[in-house]
Amino acid sequence: MNYILLGPPGAGKGTQAKKIAKKFEIVHLSTGDMFREAKKFDKIINKFLVTGELVPDEVTVDMIKNRLLKDDIKKGFVLDGFPRTLNQAQALDLMIKSQIKIDAVFFINVTFEEAIRRISSRRVCSCGASYHIALLASKKVKKCDFCGKELSQRDDDKEDVVKDRITVYEKQTKPLIEYYRNARMLIGINGLKEEAEVFAQISEYIDKNKAKKGK
Ligand code: AP5
Ligand code: MG
Ligand code: ZN
Repeated sequence: MNYILLGPPGAGKGTQAKKIAKKFEIVHLSTGDMFREAKKFDKIINKFLVTGELVPDEVTVDMIKNRLLKDDIKKGFVLDGFPRTLNQAQALDLMIKSQIKIDAVFFINVTFEEAIRRISSRRVCSCGASYHIALLASKKVKKCDFCGKELSQRDDDKEDVVKDRITVYEKQTKPLIEYYRNARMLIGINGLKEEAEVFAQISEYIDKNKAKKGK
């Protein structure tokens, strides 16, 4: 079982990917998380992240190619934030060929207004936990429930960078909707519902798909 999550910044890809990985015991592969880890010691990667620009395709494709060589992906995976350009989608097609099948691409559809609202309410911890200051607040103010560390705002969650990320999405990532629709892989998900309801839509599809495969 291998899935792709597509959607604008703030759509809830990371939130849903974590839930999918946990329930269906598959691996969560987030290129955003991988780059945030890499930027700690790579100034060039950091430059792309803080401005909201995409890291060049060659770097991103290479990183995913290497990751897909690891054994754990045989359990199945959910890709969050990749592919993000037509080039990346075509590179992924070539990479996996007949060995790996992508079962579906979930397009989490939200308005940009809602995406911006969600992003400006997001607080994160260096341990990977993510919060929403109103809907999913930490128990102690500004402190992580899991490790107690101070929460902060992602560098690229500042308002002007968020606008740039949305422009980048419109130009470079949106064409993937058509790409996967033409390939008959696209499953539209109403991302405006609350977290659990969004997950219910995705889960229902995966359960049905599993049942079909089991037959
Ligand atoms: P990345 O980390 O992928 O960022 P993004 O796509 O901009 O998406 P976000 O992580 O901001 O949003 P999300 O959809 O995961 O939403 P979340 O679940 O957190 O990429 C960062 C950067 O890395 C890029 O700008 C680029 O530089 C680089 N990069 C990454 N991949 C790349 C690639 N393939 N090629 C080149 N460069 C790449 O939710 C957001 C908030 O909303 C949270 O606070 C959450 O609690 C809340 N929330 C979630 N669901 C709901 C709901 N249903 N209702 C209410 N609130 C909700
Ligand atoms: Mg994310
Ligand atoms: Zn933490």
